[in-house]
Amino acid sequence: MWKEDLTICQLMVIFWLLTFFTPPVTSVKHIYIETYGCQMNVADSEVVMGIMHNRGYRITKQISQADVILVNTCSVRENAEQRIFGRLGHFRRYKRQNPGVVIGMLGCMAERLRSKLMEEESIVDVVVGPDEYRKLPGLVESAANGTKGIAVKLSRVENYDDIIPLRTDGISAWISVMRGCDKFCTFCIVPFTRGRERSRSVTNIVGEVEELSTRGFKEVALLGQNVNSYHDGEYDFADLLANIAGVNQSIRVRFTTSHPQGMSDKLLGTIARYNNICNHIHLPVQSGSDRILELMNRTYTSEHYRNLVKKIKSTIRNVSLSTDIIAGFPTETEDDHRMTLDLLEEIRYNGAFMFKYSPRENTPAFKMGDSIPDEVKVRRLNEIIELQQRISRENNQTLIGHTMEVLVEGESKKSKENWTGRTDTNKVVVFPKENSEVGDYVWVKISSATSATLFGEVVNAAGERLSSAAERAAVVFPDSVQTILDQADG
Ligand code: SAH
Ligand code: SF4
Ligand code: F3S
Repeated sequence: MWKEDLTICQLMVIFWLLTFFTPPVTSVKHIYIETYGCQMNVADSEVVMGIMHNRGYRITKQISQADVILVNTCSVRENAEQRIFGRLGHFRRYKRQNPGVVIGMLGCMAERLRSKLMEEESIVDVVVGPDEYRKLPGLVESAANGTKGIAVKLSRVENYDDIIPLRTDGISAWISVMRGCDKFCTFCIVPFTRGRERSRSVTNIVGEVEELSTRGFKEVALLGQNVNSYHDGEYDFADLLANIAGVNQSIRVRFTTSHPQGMSDKLLGTIARYNNICNHIHLPVQSGSDRILELMNRTYTSEHYRNLVKKIKSTIRNVSLSTDIIAGFPTETEDDHRMTLDLLEEIRYNGAFMFKYSPRENTPAFKMGDSIPDEVKVRRLNEIIELQQRISRENNQTLIGHTMEVLVEGESKKSKENWTGRTDTNKVVVFPKENSEVGDYVWVKISSATSATLFGEVVNAAGERLSSAAERAAVVFPDSVQTILDQADG
């Protein structure tokens, strides 16, 4: 044996070499991450966790265990940034007690404020923009050794297509299918913080959905600032949707956000054709006034939008629409505001995100001046909110007595006895748990409604209240009704 031929001296040399080249045994480092802003940021945080996990970091939900604190930030409106600055105050106290902890700012605010963030906030060690997350492990390691770092270059190609996001098991997954935005609406900071549009490959996205399917996920939401601009070579967004819908019939496919420019007939036809593509389109209009739409550079008129909505409603049965509205854009008159209210009244959206205009430095609208006084903006916003709440309530009340298919998502916040879930039209439904489980599709008969929530009880598809366990099982697994009834009978 060769070992027996070694001298003591040789053994000592080997021992020395081994101790020199083996890295010291360090305890595993933990990362705590907080995410602000849109769903794309939620998906990005999963990419970040994937990258850091591959480098040996572990994720913690307890800030007290964290060696690294990451804040994935949003810049879309002033108050989004103010909230994050407020949160930094909390982290400052934490860092005082734990000086070794590394604090990193990621996302849109990191991109917008860059080194200013580090200069003004002494606790920030690392600043990384949305296209530079691959550099994060190196920057965090340097920061742990005392060298602060920044990486904020935007890319025309980075789409993290090869990174497997770190997701906890569940039933719904966000999937970014494209990044960036080329629309340059004059009020919007996103093109400056996220860069130009680029899409991931159909093959990799479909592969991700297949993997989620084997893990038991029941819903995927495809994300992009402007999903209908998606393209991978000859494939457009309709092709992507069709491919994903084909992976597993029991996986619902959602998508957001659609821009009113570029909702092709092919796309509408695809949504209508596949049962598991949800009948819900989030279609931000922003304003009902053509003059304001032009100043916003939205590239459509209110007439184009109205015609599109007509086409959507005639192509997709029972479609539900939601929107985004901005109140108090520069120079908005009472007449412009009235046109927005009229449009809401006419289209009768099922929901809306409604915002007060917030000037963002370096956007074209910033140069138009913030001409509408705050109290006028607030009053207009309140009028919009009040009107939309009434419309949402009225829409929901027409559903009383209807039976709707609901994907069970989790426990209701208000009662442990109830589940909460959503219809494919994206309506929230709360109902007693009975025998159903998270991830089941159940039929719920609606008995009451508010502007935000439907309430009901589990029934069979014909609308009758369940009486036996076998019937309940049949509803829970609609694809295998006969098998389950057979088993129950046996
Ligand atoms: N890409 C999507 C949404 C992006 S941001 C789209 O095109 O619709 C989400 C919403 O925030 C926008 O639709 C808009 O209503 C709102 N928003 C963006 N910038 C804003 C600003 N400066 N002030 C107020 N609201 C803003
Ligand atoms: Fe912003 Fe307009 Fe792009 Fe939406 S489409 S992200 S509002 S620039
Ligand atoms: Fe905010 Fe950036 Fe999303 S600005 S809304 S986190 S794209």
